[in-house]
Amino acid sequence: MTKVFAGMAMSPDGFIARNDGDLSWLNETMVKGEDYGFAESLRRTGLVIVGANTYRAMAGMAAGVKTYVVSHHPPPARLGKNVSFYSGDLGALVARARAETDKDVCVFGGGNLLGQLIALDLVDELTVSVAPALAGGDIRFFGDVAPAKRLRLADCKRFPASGIVVLTYTLAPNRSPTAAPTKPKPKTS
Ligand SMILES: NC(=O)c1ccc[n+]([C@@H]2O[C@H](COP(=O)([O-])OP(=O)(O)OC[C@H]3O[C@@H](n4cnc5c(N)ncnc54)[C@H](OP(=O)(O)O)[C@@H]3O)[C@@H](O)[C@H]2O)c1
Repeated sequence: MTKVFAGMAMSPDGFIARNDGDLSWLNETMVKGEDYGFAESLRRTGLVIVGANTYRAMAGMAAGVKTYVVSHHPPPARLGKNVSFYSGDLGALVARARAETDKDVCVFGGGNLLGQLIALDLVDELTVSVAPALAGGDIRFFGDVAPAKRLRLADCKRFPASGIVVLTYTLAPNRSPTAAPTKPKPKTS
């Protein structure tokens, strides 16, 4: 069954990027020979969904597979192969994406889009790669959204040479972390 998975790298204080676009704080932590799950992500990805800021920051990234860029604006005149812009209901987009691939759907970020998708229960699996560096601000893992969800730890990998830790969680829809367990109703006869 097609899964929707999302993953991003962040600093331990919860930032994924700086406004000036400088990613050296992150790139400098990575070590040759450690993979951090990139190859497996590529292998399982049949379709990509990405926020417009990330698309613009990555200079019009083209993932090679069909890619939906979520934006309130029309697409630029020059668009990469397989790339289309989407504006509208995010649930409908994810349902369309699931139907359009036999593989998995990768949400490539950024924080603004991912926060909304998590809050709407549209993501099945979340990977957080914690880099041993403080980014110095500015963009948070879930942007301005602060979803409250219970997560289940599915995997935890520590990469000793770099100090990067990759945490993978699964998400159960509509489960509040503070919700009291439901008591069984007393039997009436
Ligand atoms: N550390 C990592 O692993 C990692 C991963 C990915 C990205 N990044 C970085 O994260 C930064 C971007 O993240 P971000 O949180 O600022 O932005 P983002 O999530 O990439 O994009 C946000 C933009 O997407 C559009 N959008 C979002 N929700 C929408 C909706 N419901 N309907 C229509 N359009 C919607 C809007 O663009 P419009 O203005 O076009 O309407 C919005 O400004 C970049 O610097 C990127 O390099 C880091």
